[in-house]
Amino acid sequence: MAKECAVSKLDKGFLVCDETRSGLIPALQEIQDKKGYISDNDMQAVADKFGIHPVEVYSVATFYSFLTTRKRGRHVIRISECISNTMAGSRKIEKEFEKALGIKISETTKNNKITLERTGCIGMCDKAPAAMIDDALVGNITVAKVREIIKSLK
Ligand code: FES
Repeated sequence: MAKECAVSKLDKGFLVCDETRSGLIPALQEIQDKKGYISDNDMQAVADKFGIHPVEVYSVATFYSFLTTRKRGRHVIRISECISNTMAGSRKIEKEFEKALGIKISETTKNNKITLERTGCIGMCDKAPAAMIDDALVGNITVAKVREIIKSLK
């Protein structure tokens, strides 16, 4: 039988469904979904709510590449850097994105539209080089496809 969710609120209206440690990642995801990133104040609020040290929250928030403690652009391009993707040319694709966007990896365009990042496994070794464009998986990326992908982002 599914456990009933005891929803409580953090400051700023963020919801916490589970105040045990297993609820930590969902709480951080909730904040990120609403704000786009997890600030120092958010980490402190979560730590207070869960009764743990803020360093523990920070270590979780900075360990997972899908959580971020800094503002990102409206769109996030995450290029997989697993060994298969690297062997299939992900670094060449990364360079092409950098050139087309005028930024380096881990940076955001000046208009805050696009952030470019590396990530680990996205389950796309068989379609390498691959990336996650926001929530969508895109495989078999070629240099020619890079500008097409950027153009598709509103
Ligand atoms: S190990 Fe290559 S995408 Fe998962």
